[in-house]
Parts: sequence; C-alpha cells; structure tokens
Amino acid sequence: MNRILITGGAGFIGSHTASLLLEKGFDLIIVDSFVNSSKLFLEKIFTLFKKIDEKYEERIKFIECDIRNFNKLNNVFQESINEGKPINSVIHFAGLKSVSESVEYPLQYWDANVNGSINLFKVMAIHNCKTIVFSSSATVYGTSDNKLLTEDAEIKPKNPYGESKLIIEKILNSLYISDKENWKIANLRYFNPIGAHESGLIGECPNGVPSNLFPFITQVAIGKRSFLKVYGRDWPTKDGTAIRDYIHVMDLAEGHLSALNYLESQDGIFTNLNLGTSKGTTVLELVRTFEKVNNCKIPFDYVDRRPGDVAISVADNKKAINILNWKPHRNIERMCIDGWFWEKNVNDLKLTFDKF
Ligand SMILES: NC(=O)c1ccc[n+]([C@@H]2O[C@H](COP(=O)([O-])OP(=O)(O)OC[C@H]3O[C@@H](n4cnc5c(N)ncnc54)[C@H](O)[C@@H]3O)[C@@H](O)[C@H]2O)c1
Repeated sequence: MNRILITGGAGFIGSHTASLLLEKGFDLIIVDSFVNSSKLFLEKIFTLFKKIDEKYEERIKFIECDIRNFNKLNNVFQESINEGKPINSVIHFAGLKSVSESVEYPLQYWDANVNGSINLFKVMAIHNCKTIVFSSSATVYGTSDNKLLTEDAEIKPKNPYGESKLIIEKILNSLYISDKENWKIANLRYFNPIGAHESGLIGECPNGVPSNLFPFITQVAIGKRSFLKVYGRDWPTKDGTAIRDYIHVMDLAEGHLSALNYLESQDGIFTNLNLGTSKGTTVLELVRTFEKVNNCKIPFDYVDRRPGDVAISVADNKKAINILNWKPHRNIERMCIDGWFWEKNVNDLKLTFDKF
C-alpha cells in the first residue's frame, strides 16, 4: 500500500482526511507545525483510533515539522526511503487560512503558504515524489454574480490569502510543464467545509477566535462566546447576508481519496477541481438551520463587512463529479447536526483523554 505524506494533517480537513485514509488501509505520515492545531489533541484522537484497531498505530506517524524547514522535511522523505516505505504522494493542507488575517498580516501568509509550498515541492522533486493533491480554495475566484463558479471562471483573488493559493497553483503548473510525464497534480478548490466526523471524535478545533462562520456558531451555541458577528447585512442577496457553498468535511475528505485514485490512474496530469455542493446558503439560513435541527438559539449581531470578503461564492461541481467518480451527499442539516455533536463532545472528550 502507498505511503502518503499529509502536511497539515493535524488540522480540521487534514485530520478528517487522515481518518478516512486510515480506514481505507493507507500508510500515512503527518507533518504539522501545530500553529493552528494541537499535538496533544491529535495524539489523543489517534489513541482512540488505536483502541478501535491496534493496526492503526503501525500505519501512522506524526512528525512535528514546519514545512519551511528544508532539512527536517528532507529527513522525513529520506527516513521513509531508509525504512523501505518511500513516500509516493502528498496531500498538502499545511498553510494559514484566514482571509481577514491575511489582509492584516500579509507577509506571514506569503511566507507560510508560498515559501512553505516551494520548500515542500523542492523536497518532493529531490525524492522523485511527483504526485500531489493541493488544498486550494474558492477564494482564487472573483465574485460569482449569482452564477455557479466553474473552474474556468475569472480568477481574481481579492485578498493575500487567495493570492497565495493562486501563486501555489501557478508554481505547480510550472512544475507540471517542466515534466509532463511524471507530475500528477490536482488543485482542489474547496468551497466552505463545515460539520465534523459522524463519530463526534474529530472536528474543527481552531486556536483562538474562529475566523470562519461555522465554528463561531457552534461556540456561541455551547456558550463559549456570547453572540455571533454577522459581517454585513447589505450584500446583494435575498436576505442581505453573504452566500456560501457549505460542504460536509467528510464529503471533502472523500473527494481527496477520489482525487488520489484519479491521479494514480493517470500518466501525468495537472487539473483544477472545485469541491463544493453547487448549493448556496446565506449566513442567516445557516444560522436558522442550525437552530432548528439542534433545538438551540444563536444570538447574533450585524457588524461591518470584512475587507476581502465577497457576496456570493458557489461552486459548479460538475467537473469533479464527472472526473473523480465522487459526489457530496451530506446535506446542510447533517452538517449542522454533526458539527454540534462534535462541539458538545469536545469538553467530554478532554475529560476522557485525561484517563489515558
Ligand atoms: N477550512 C476552510 O474553509 C478552507 C477552505 C478552502 C481551503 N482551505 C485550505 O485547506 C487547508 C486546510 O485547512 P483547514 O481548515 O484544515 O485548516 P487548519 O488550520 O485546521 O489546518 C491547517 C494545518 O496546517 C498546519 N500548518 C500551518 N502552517 C504550517 C507550516 N508552515 N508547517 C506545517 N504545518 C503548518 C496547522 O497547524 C494546521 O494543523 C489549508 O491550506 C486551507 O487554506 C481551507
């Protein structure tokens, strides 16, 4: 079975994808700097997995490593070769992801996202590992003006975060052009992943104040924060709040597995793929659905729009559906139920973990 390197595998999407790949029998190495996740948390999650199946431990390694550290990353690849299990492919999640933070601290974003990626690609090239699934983002597009965004829609990121994703896509494209027979590259442009693993064992656990809507909602629901800030009530949408395409994080994880299988079946390829549901939901609709399915109240207040935000961002997902043999099938209600189940479990889980 192939060995896969997952950068940023302790984070929200990375941990869900890792759990799915483990279930499917893959051998994984996770590298993460833990800048936006917790080592302890990750180790304890997989202690739970280990209790379910002892063999999980044999197929997963965690290495604390910033992807900008060339020598350490190079050693990860070299040690894998020495073990007789070379890394065949990479899923590259590691990076900083807040739009508003990227406007405030652009250098941090260029450095972590672009320099980190260049370093990773250098090490991959040295070790002739040329298959990569990259976490790109819908923020590479401009506004959609009510149209579903296809992969060839206008590319016009509105903030340093989106620009950094676009630059990485371009770097990957130039690598592909340099060796079309061997590089196999899928840029997955995610829309808005929310929800959590159905088990309630893993979910989104941001350090500090969440910059995304959904973890903010769950933290208000549990009482960690007193009210939700809704950024803007004058967007050109049916209720004045911004529209996004929310996708269940496990549907997204399944998209990665399909993308890996697809790349494996190709001789050399570069492709951009939207991972979304093609359904738009306003902020208020998401809040109301969350309240309804979970029988709770989410107090909120309107505040000014955030710089760098757009009104509407919804995927046309036909290309991914056709090419990947993949389809998102969990609805917005499921996302709200699973996300809330996770948030409620977080405190209990920490108590349980203390026993290990
Ligand atoms: N969550 C979203 O809404 C969303 C949408 C589109 C794209 N993405 C992209 O998907 C990827 C994963 O997102 P997520 O929501 O899981 O974010 P996350 O912050 O939960 O996970 C990212 C992980 O990468 C790690 N990391 C960051 N910089 C690193 C570095 N230099 N070296 C090593 N590790 C580093 C963090 O500690 C974290 O564990 C990111 O690249 C993000 O830009 C996310």
